[in-house]
Amino acid sequence: MLLLFKRAIRNYSQVPIYPKAKVSRQSTLRTLYSKYQDRKPISVITAHDYISGKYANESEADAVIIGDSLSMINLGYQSTLEMSFEEFYYCCKATCRAIDRKFIIADLPFGTFETSAEECGRNAIKLMKLGKVQSIKLEGSYEITDQVKKLIDIGIPVTGHVGLQPQKFNALGGYRVQGKTATDAIEIFRQAKYLQSLGVSLLVLEAIPSEVAKIITEELNLPTIGIGAGKYTSGQVLVQGDVLGMLSNKPAKFVRQYKNFYQEGIDGINQYCRELNSDKYPEEGTHTYSMAPEEVKNLIERIKSEK
Ligand code: KIV
Repeated sequence: MLLLFKRAIRNYSQVPIYPKAKVSRQSTLRTLYSKYQDRKPISVITAHDYISGKYANESEADAVIIGDSLSMINLGYQSTLEMSFEEFYYCCKATCRAIDRKFIIADLPFGTFETSAEECGRNAIKLMKLGKVQSIKLEGSYEITDQVKKLIDIGIPVTGHVGLQPQKFNALGGYRVQGKTATDAIEIFRQAKYLQSLGVSLLVLEAIPSEVAKIITEELNLPTIGIGAGKYTSGQVLVQGDVLGMLSNKPAKFVRQYKNFYQEGIDGINQYCRELNSDKYPEEGTHTYSMAPEEVKNLIERIKSEK
């Protein structure tokens, strides 16, 4: 009795007068900037749904991009152009439910921001309202000036994206390395400087020669995150599906595939099917629930009487 009373007192004394606000453990822009200042590589991985979000959250990656590459990887489309905002939003919601530690950047998919700053602001706000997204990534440069300014004005950190912009693959004549000549490279350099002048917080450099990425990174005062841009950027991002070999497609040259989930997955399912066919699974006792013998007897008798 005395013990119960003591425990009650102890529990009571732990109840706060005002409920404490839930403190977010997510990393912030500051976390990424402090790595940048310490010249330590910023590691970024994409995530596209609850499962890949969980892997990312439990990993050592510094940040997560919910990229529109999910259009191909999760939804099976041919390009990023086909995915609707609603489809992307649904995947973002699932991904965000899995992540409580990492800095999250979300893309704005093709067709959801290009035509006006208002449209861009509206869709970015919908993603920010998920409560976990901390930066919005936009592909482009001069042509999205109003959009970048609008997001920054309303307090949304912007991640820029230059070099290969997959949303413009039709205009680019495919998914090609950009900036291979000095004339093309200086244009990417100018775009990068311009985005910095607008106030973007981070900049993705995709599929450009490492020499160009190195010069851009050295000339800017913000972290660059490379994908197929060599080793001299402030950080790297890879698509999780490529890193883990989730699909059977041949990854791009710059990818290092660390696992083969695709083959492992098929092998695992085949093993299950074979064990089923050879009576090895399920095993009586290990994988089964049982009933007391007298209950079985009782059940059989009752069924008989119901016939
Ligand atoms: O959609 C995507 O996966 C991207 C990468 C650059 C991370 O934008």
